This record gives sequence, structure tokens and C-alpha cells, in this order.
Amino acid sequence: MANHKTVKDYIRTIADFPHEGIMFRDVTTLFADPRGLRIAVDQLLHPYAGTPIDCVVGLEARGFILGGAVAHQLSVGFVPIRKKGKLPGPVISEAYTLEYGEAVVEVHDDAIEPGAKVLVVDDLLATGGTAEAGIKLVERLGGEVVGCAFVIDLPDLGGRQKLEAMGMDVHALCS
Ligand code: PRP
Ligand code: ADE
Repeated sequence: MANHKTVKDYIRTIADFPHEGIMFRDVTTLFADPRGLRIAVDQLLHPYAGTPIDCVVGLEARGFILGGAVAHQLSVGFVPIRKKGKLPGPVISEAYTLEYGEAVVEVHDDAIEPGAKVLVVDDLLATGGTAEAGIKLVERLGGEVVGCAFVIDLPDLGGRQKLEAMGMDVHALCS
């Protein structure tokens, strides 16, 4: 029998993680399923068929899993944006706030060629703080963000509006 499960059907919700009141959207169940992972990667790329993309940037940590798979599918390289203090070489940094805290993200200062067309990938868009910081890092290195692709958009938290106000193309598979 055909499997009609959607990407959303593979995601589970865990209440009160990592803090009381947060409904945590857990994509490990999506990633663990062979069909789930395949349809998520295919659908993340769907709007960009025919769009030149020189590299994929993934946001720590779940954006590494998706971004690596997306980069492999496109036969382009993958660039990690990491939390502060994790990258070994010279970096540039951006501070940001998120749904449940504050953080700093970094990228190697030679990771993106000026003029490179970049697809930013993460599992989830909430306030948009993480993605905004990632986009700023890419742009500070001279990259051009051609799209921001997420599995989940949490529309009440305003991330899409924040990124669209920056002129970004935002693509999400479910909300
Ligand atoms: C989550 C998620 C996004 C970010 C979205 O990561 O994977 O990267 O939050 O939130 P925002 O739109 O409000 O910035 P988290 O910071 O929990 O880090 P992790 O993936 O390393 O656990
Ligand atoms: N990152 C920020 N908010 C989140 C949520 N509700 N579930 C999973 N990851 C998140």
C-alpha cells in the first residue's frame, strides 16, 4: 500500500523541553525514517530547481544533518555555522536571541567565496534570530543568500516576517 505520510507526520512534539512551556518540535523521528529523510531533503530543494547554488550553509546542530544531505544532493560544498568557540580557524561572529535564550554563532572567515550563491538550511524557523545571524555572516563574507529552507516554520514567533523583511526567500515544508 502507498505511504501517504507527510513530512509533518514524521515530526513529534515533546512538551516542556528544554524549558516549561516550550512545545519542542523533535525532528529526530523524521531523520530516523528513511522515507521521511528522503522526502524532507527532496522537498527542501524543490523550489530551487534551476536556481544556481554554489554552496549550502547549515545552522548548528540540526541544520548540519539536513544541510549536508542537501549539499550532497546538489553536488556542492557544505559550510557549517557553529555556536561560539567550536570552529578551529579564524572566525567572524554574530550574537542573536532565540525562543529560549541568547547565543553567538560563528563561521570561518574564508568559508565562502565573495559572490557565491548560498542556500541556508535549518530544521526550524522560530523567532528567526538564528537564521538572521547566519544570513548576516554569509553576507559579511560577500555571499549572496538565494534562499532559506526550513522543515518547520513556527508562524506565531515571527521568523518568516523577520527574514522576508530582510528581502529573503523563505521556504518551509510545514508549520
Ligand atoms: C533551534 C533550531 C534553530 C533555532 C530556531 O536550534 O534548530 O536553529 O533553534 O530558533 P530561532 O528561529 O528562534 O532562532 P537551537 O538553538 O535549539 O540549537 P541546536 O540545534 O544546537 O539544539
Ligand atoms: N527552536 C526554537 N524553538 C523550538 C521549538 N519549539 N522546537 C524545536 N526547536 C526549537
